[in-house]
Amino acid sequence: MANTDERRQYRDETLPVEDRVEDLLDRMTLREKIGQLVGTWAGDLESMKDVDDVATEIVEHGVGAVASFGWAGAHDQRLENVVDTVNQLQDVARSETRLGIPLLFSVDAVHGHAYVSEGTAFPNGLGMAATWDESLTESVAEVTAAEVRASGAHQNYSPTCDVARDPRWGRTFETFGESPYLVGQLAAAKVRGYQGDDLRDPDSVVATAKHFPAYGEPTRGEDASPVETSEYVLRNTFLPPFIDALEAGAESVMPCYNAINGDPAHGSRHVLQTLLRENLGFDGTTVSDWHGVEMLHESHRVTPDHRGSVRLTREAGLDIASVDTVDHADHLRSLVEEGEIDESVVDQSVRRVLRLKFELGLFEDPFVDPSTATDVVGSDEHRAKALAAARKSMTLLSNEGTLPLDDDTDILVAGPNADDPIHQLGGWSVPDPEGTDIVTVRDGIESLADGTVTYERGTGIASTGDVDAAARAAEDADVAVVAVGENWYLHEFGPNETSGTDNDEFPNRTQLDLSDAQRELLEAIEATGTPIIGVLVTGRPLAVNWLAEHAAGLLMAYYPGTMGGRAVAETLFGDNEPSGRLPISVPRSAGHLPTRFNYLRHPTPIGEEEHPDSYDPLFAFGHGESYAEFEFGDVELSETTIGPHGTATVSVPVANTSDRAGSTVVQAYVSDDVSSRVTPVKELRGFDRVTLDAGESGTATIQISAQSLGLVQADGSRTTEPGAYTVKVAGQEATLTVGPGSD
Ligand code: BGC
Repeated sequence: MANTDERRQYRDETLPVEDRVEDLLDRMTLREKIGQLVGTWAGDLESMKDVDDVATEIVEHGVGAVASFGWAGAHDQRLENVVDTVNQLQDVARSETRLGIPLLFSVDAVHGHAYVSEGTAFPNGLGMAATWDESLTESVAEVTAAEVRASGAHQNYSPTCDVARDPRWGRTFETFGESPYLVGQLAAAKVRGYQGDDLRDPDSVVATAKHFPAYGEPTRGEDASPVETSEYVLRNTFLPPFIDALEAGAESVMPCYNAINGDPAHGSRHVLQTLLRENLGFDGTTVSDWHGVEMLHESHRVTPDHRGSVRLTREAGLDIASVDTVDHADHLRSLVEEGEIDESVVDQSVRRVLRLKFELGLFEDPFVDPSTATDVVGSDEHRAKALAAARKSMTLLSNEGTLPLDDDTDILVAGPNADDPIHQLGGWSVPDPEGTDIVTVRDGIESLADGTVTYERGTGIASTGDVDAAARAAEDADVAVVAVGENWYLHEFGPNETSGTDNDEFPNRTQLDLSDAQRELLEAIEATGTPIIGVLVTGRPLAVNWLAEHAAGLLMAYYPGTMGGRAVAETLFGDNEPSGRLPISVPRSAGHLPTRFNYLRHPTPIGEEEHPDSYDPLFAFGHGESYAEFEFGDVELSETTIGPHGTATVSVPVANTSDRAGSTVVQAYVSDDVSSRVTPVKELRGFDRVTLDAGESGTATIQISAQSLGLVQADGSRTTEPGAYTVKVAGQEATLTVGPGSD
């Protein structure tokens, strides 16, 4: 007779995953099943107390998922501790539970593995989007996946598929900006990069498309506040990036905190079943946002208590409740035992979780090797990739000819973001830079300059500093590079200052100006007559009207990550060609919101063809200057008429007429000339990044499918209406006609 282990089919890796799932599910008690559907988190990774607590939850409650590396930090997150904790807990799950089911570890590695001190931090979402480069984004995700997996986690709470619709919102920096098309292309690239070909590979992790379905336009920009949206905006704007991410194979989805038209996503069957599974065909695993289930009763008040919230979210179809843990498990068990929730609901979710664990190969080997982790995390190769990404994200907003700087220029480096590693990393990063090796703007300039470099911070973000010292230093310099902007979470984890505004969690703001303290510094330097080069280290478009008018050059650096300061310096000296393009409009003020390029057509004052210029952005979506100069030939369409399933190729000759190599992003916008419903004045439908040597010529080619021009009808369906569409590329226009018929 076979011994017990041989009869355990789920342990046989030669069997199909589905057979293994069913075999294991059959063996599980209700308590064990429910354990797989709740997560916990390993808080302070250094303190054995926390690890012991988690171990108890695993042994006594069968908890199956662990969010590994903290939230907003405040812990020692050195790699050594992380790996050690992961291995200890996997050992507990394997040897101290009846069935030995491995744990699923997850992490917010949203711009690289930035929650581990030694990890590589890439530009935050907005900066990454400024690269308009899918293959770079994919390779950045590959690096991230390799670092995450090497340190023991299997699921990344990324990519963010949210479309940013209000820059007052504190999470704008995490997004890929305001174009559903650009967001979708880059989110899909991230999914491919994270998941690779096979989740068993040592450099693959599960991608989590978040925050479904509409997080990016909270009321007055206040994070997690209600999203009142129409079916039209939902399907035209918010859902397309999720569709792209799911088509790329994202195995997991996280709902948003907000109520969407009155229904909190975590408790909405319409969101989690009808939209996600029935409409979009998703068959992977859903994971709640942090305390998203408890918020149903604590904040939204759509249930009276935790038990009610567990019931609501389970009926809606949630699979893993990320940090509800033991209470959630107890409530769910009693709901099933008392017949209020059918056990088949639990079984269905457990199948999904187990499937993921089998696909990840965790039953074969859940452990990680500390020395491999040390080799992989933060390797030189990965830092080089972070530099490549930061370089490409650099977006030159204006240049009166002072840039690029000569190597022997005498430079004053000033401003609160010139030499602050934490400000530079942005959100979802270690709060303590100890053990991290971050190149700041000051470091970068000092290492490249041949002239004299003086540093005077001058001011904090909001707190005042020694403005006079900075102004005096400016008098002796040829140019003042002033790095201004914002920071993230400072009120809690950094020096004693805030962005000077508003909120206490994500840095939502009610206005978009620079703080008074920074403005004072800029004006004092300007008064010396020394030209100012403004460097914006920020997670959102700021209404920098004064700087735009007074600076000799203005560079948008976003939150550029580990190597960001080097990329800034190279760009200022002309060693890096600025080729980033804004993925979001820069408004003139908060009062001008919404400022977006794809606004809906609307009546204008009699006698005016378009809305008044005063509504125009300070800097437009897609804007970005180069040092190289490009000329564009005539736009050509491969076909001027296509069927409703056809595709036309738009091509534009591009010549680099300058004496330096460079790269430009050719953007194709389309507007529907006449449509049955109101459509945007233009929508981005494609782009091509063209890189050319000095004097070289090439061609930008962009595919535009008739299907991508679909118009959302009142019932939510999408149809491409026959008729003429205007294609706008490189300052030119061409007409593409979509004919009736079926091809
Ligand atoms: C955020 C998510 C994140 C989660 C886990 C939440 O506060 O909304 O984006 O994945 O925390 O850290």
